[in-house]
Amino acid sequence: MEIHNKFELRKFVAPEFIFGEGSINLAGQYARNFNARRVLIVTDPGIIQAGWAKVVETSLEAHGIGFLTFSNITPNPKAEEVMQGAELFHNSRCDCIVAVGGGSSIDCAKGIGIVASNRRHILEFEGVDKVQYSMPPIICIPTTAGTAADVSQFAIITDSNEKLKKAIVSKVVVPDVALIDPTTTTTMPNYLTACTGIDCLVHAIEAFVSNASSMITDVHAMEAIRLASKYLLRVLREPNNMEYRTKMMMASLEAGLAFSNASLGVTHAMAHSLGGLTDVAHGECNSILVDHVLEFNFKGAPDRYARIGDAMGLNLKGEDTKSIKKSILAEISRLKKEAKINNRLSSIGIGFSDIPYLAKNAMHDICVVTNPRKPVEKDIEVIYEEAL
Ligand SMILES: [Fe+2]
Repeated sequence: MEIHNKFELRKFVAPEFIFGEGSINLAGQYARNFNARRVLIVTDPGIIQAGWAKVVETSLEAHGIGFLTFSNITPNPKAEEVMQGAELFHNSRCDCIVAVGGGSSIDCAKGIGIVASNRRHILEFEGVDKVQYSMPPIICIPTTAGTAADVSQFAIITDSNEKLKKAIVSKVVVPDVALIDPTTTTTMPNYLTACTGIDCLVHAIEAFVSNASSMITDVHAMEAIRLASKYLLRVLREPNNMEYRTKMMMASLEAGLAFSNASLGVTHAMAHSLGGLTDVAHGECNSILVDHVLEFNFKGAPDRYARIGDAMGLNLKGEDTKSIKKSILAEISRLKKEAKINNRLSSIGIGFSDIPYLAKNAMHDICVVTNPRKPVEKDIEVIYEEAL
């Protein structure tokens, strides 16, 4: 069963990207291509400590480009952090942004770019195609293999007053250049590698079963599922193996190209709601929810899930729909267990009484729209309950 006509009109957007070891060193050259005179480096304290911000600084210096650094960023970047960064960009007369970090730094950098050009509060841009003016030139250097914010048309910003994540989706949010250097992922702790790796897998799965998928997004989603399933546990066993790091970074890129254009589903809607309330990192939220959502979603696109199972390397020949579902769920649970992702909602402080609030917010998330099975609020509550 196909979930829609694959030959419908479909748009595909992606930034220019350079993939490979050492691409981080091109930051200065690309900034110069944009005629940058003063760059705002957007990063976080962990990345400064790991030395990657310094590599960017050295590259900018080599091209005679001035810079200053904004690093007041927390996981799940907050609207006030974006506004603070935008003020610094404006007051310091910066003309280009280089984001180096995980999804939080990159999303915050996108937010700063939006505010710098549009001169309004970041939360006013929530929704699809609400950003009027293009961002200043923005170069993104991802340091996790999962987020893919460096190639996507999404920026997720937390409204800390409402404890809600707000999605800004626009072609204008696609960065100008992504410098995707797998070397930068070698400084991630193993648990972050595990959670961001599962996030990558979820991007690819949700894009593949999305109602807005296309033949082009399918190609990227399938390859991302194949790579992430094959290499996640290997890279956790050998964190310094560059072949494995490269394969996971490629999985992240391909999943990003897929989900940026096909959008996502209920796992992300529920993870956004959860991250807004608890401030738990995005990858971990998805990792806790992925199998419970798959259990619900499977009957919305069983043939597509069978192809996902094949791409995960499972031998599903001769299996009926019920046992295909069982095999995929068993494989995801094996991946989580061996990656030492053992948390459940209860272990991150969620109780039964939080569920109606979480479900209500998840139902309003934009990612619900493209889910292969249309949920009602009660369905979402049940999924949260099962993940408790
Ligand atoms: Fe994600």
